[in-house]
Amino acid sequence: MSASRRVLVVGSGGREHALAWKLIRDGAEVLVAPGNAGTAAIAENVPVSATDIPGLLKLAQDRGVDLTVVGPEAPLVAGIVDAFTAAGLRIFGPTARAAQLEGSKIFCKQILHRGDVPTAMFQEFRSVAAAREFLEAREDMPVVVKADGLAAGKGVFVCGDRAVALEAIASLGSDPQFAAAAKGILIEEKLDGVEVSVMAITDGRTIVTLPPLQDHKAAYDGDQGPNTGGMGAYCPTPFVDPELLADIEARILVPTVHAMRRAKVPFQGVLYAGLMLTAQGPKVLEFNARFGDPECEALLVRLESSLLDLLDATADRRLETVEPPIWRDGASVTVVMAAEGYPGPVEKGRPIRGLEAAAAIEGVQVFHAATKLVDGAVLCDGGRTLAVTAVGDSLPRAKLLAYTAVKEIRWPGAWCRKDISDKALAFELSAASMDSGTAE
Ligand code: AMP
Ligand code: GLY
Repeated sequence: MSASRRVLVVGSGGREHALAWKLIRDGAEVLVAPGNAGTAAIAENVPVSATDIPGLLKLAQDRGVDLTVVGPEAPLVAGIVDAFTAAGLRIFGPTARAAQLEGSKIFCKQILHRGDVPTAMFQEFRSVAAAREFLEAREDMPVVVKADGLAAGKGVFVCGDRAVALEAIASLGSDPQFAAAAKGILIEEKLDGVEVSVMAITDGRTIVTLPPLQDHKAAYDGDQGPNTGGMGAYCPTPFVDPELLADIEARILVPTVHAMRRAKVPFQGVLYAGLMLTAQGPKVLEFNARFGDPECEALLVRLESSLLDLLDATADRRLETVEPPIWRDGASVTVVMAAEGYPGPVEKGRPIRGLEAAAAIEGVQVFHAATKLVDGAVLCDGGRTLAVTAVGDSLPRAKLLAYTAVKEIRWPGAWCRKDISDKALAFELSAASMDSGTAE
């Protein structure tokens, strides 16, 4: 049974706060490494960095941890699962080789090709010069330039024309932050449509597809401004109805899991598909090898059955034995509150007020994304600072509750998008008016 199980959550963001919160509700005793001020209030924070694999291994051994759950991609790609498994410890997440699905966009394309999974057409280059030559010989059109490796979400450039694409390639060649990631370069066809996130938990054979979400990646309202890690999400998104979700499972998730197994790189953990819903159907923009953030926060507040059971069964490769998860009716909305300057450099250390008043609102959970506890005060400690999340019987209700909570929270320079979930509301309105139009 789940009671008194000791679980280690690795990471320090809103996703890890939400994982810890849910696992505690499922009866686990939770350690978080390194955690934040939010996880400190509900679990035990241990000051070991999320990328210190030997330190995390020692922690898990010293503290008799039953199951380790890895939030971010960096330790996965660096081999935390391989190290724990070799030491006989149970862990939820893909091996380093399987995490290449996120860690190398070229590897990802190879798997998509093997599985015959729809994705954007692309060309791959091993040098900046070769990529430049290709573009110069090509007619002017929008393309997407991507660095092969992990680049903290910054290695993707959606380019309206050739001149902009050439600039992107030049920056991949010259900017030291891309040195490792840009050893391979992809130039991709630009896809048009609505972007959605569909995640599944898989043990490499069985797949549990989770409700679809929509993230908001642009910094400002109306999808304006620079790309970010995600400024808010809601669940479920009406852009993916049950029929389309079944199609995504059958044509994208299942073939990918099978292709990984056939390539002798079985994938265990969260398979996160970033999808573009194009006129030709859903196509893969990217895979991640972990829960999305802020998607995880909006997802877990709707999960009524045990997350611990799902993660345990995945770690033991017996996911087929677990009952399908039960989701709360209605919807959830997560609004990210960010510090002044995000997604650029931010001013840290400002005290945050109003957290208790916000948390007291019905249906609201304030997950901390980058905070620090100093002398009893909660301080802003990074760009995406809080993930204010609410559940409600309907999407408008969840949105109202989330923004009511946001209004309670203040620190100098704090800001958020005001339109999280509005695309869904507009879509539902237009669908309703089309229905009434055809009924006449
Ligand atoms: P990725 O990290 O590959 O998901 O790319 C980051 C963001 O760039 C995605 O969330 C999309 O908004 C955008 N993007 C990536 N690839 C494409 C594409 N082929 N067409 C249009 N937009 C894209
Ligand atoms: N919210 C997008 C991601 O986690 O990659």
